Amino acid sequence: MNSPRIFAGSSNPDLAKAISRKSKIPLGKIELGKFSDSEIDVWVQDNVNNSDVFIVQSNSYQVNDNIIELSLIADTVRRGGAHKITAVIPYFGYSRKEKQTRPGEPISAKVVADLIISTGINKVICLDLHADAIVGFFDVPVIYLSALEILAQRLKREKFISPIVISPDVGGVRRARNFAAFIDAPLAVMEKHRFSDVRDKMEVLSMSGEVSGDTAIIIDDIISTGGTIIESAKALKDKGVKKIIVCATHGVFAQDAVSRLENSTVDKVFVTDSIAQDQKSKKIEIVSVSDIFAECLTQEVS
Ligand code: R5P
Repeated sequence: MNSPRIFAGSSNPDLAKAISRKSKIPLGKIELGKFSDSEIDVWVQDNVNNSDVFIVQSNSYQVNDNIIELSLIADTVRRGGAHKITAVIPYFGYSRKEKQTRPGEPISAKVVADLIISTGINKVICLDLHADAIVGFFDVPVIYLSALEILAQRLKREKFISPIVISPDVGGVRRARNFAAFIDAPLAVMEKHRFSDVRDKMEVLSMSGEVSGDTAIIIDDIISTGGTIIESAKALKDKGVKKIIVCATHGVFAQDAVSRLENSTVDKVFVTDSIAQDQKSKKIEIVSVSDIFAECLTQEVS
């Protein structure tokens, strides 16, 4: 067997480099680009014959390009004779469309999982999927990692006095309950309503659980437009909460989400580097997931 390699897709090269440094698995030589008609071009320059190959790619913005790029890299290393191809997908785009909410809609997460696997990928490593059931959409073995514990460890250092953990929607209760257990705090749950006629618009309908104390910690999987956490923060302020902290694994920060957060009642946001972050905001702190992935890859090659 030849030595293993990590190939970085263009979505998150810094995370790939950190994983490589920490796992001591070298980065492979690859050239990524685009033809003038916007088609993606991939050139793997290392010999991968009989090697274990890891491709690090988040399906973040530009989501469709990143999915195709991952697929093209996988196809290339398969044709190059790779022994095993593992897709390391820190953020799995389209995960919020994992079921039909009304007739006439696709199950996009399943389509994307099928597309990626069809290129010859043997294994997937992913992190905090929007719905756990998506693990079953991949017809290959999946290692399912979570950033909840490292986010909780970071939060503990803040030493908040009697914080309460908030799930901003009913679908996130299990996640929030696990997080509350990590930091030993009580839990409250909000019921959220999304407007079917206005994409990305939501409102808070109700809240269950006793909301008291100075600090509320909203825990979510994804911050996209920021609508969910901003509306949740408003409702919590109305209940008398003084400080609003947000923890989420994936900081998508679509459109003007960062400036909306800056101007909101949210005091601080912790997200991971599952998605490359180049925005500048004093309210946002990045907690790296590179250790989690590096440890996982080290075990995979040992
Ligand atoms: C939805 O169910 C997710 O868990 C997140 O709450 C949602 O994706 C956040 O989106 P946005 O920031 O656009 O409200």
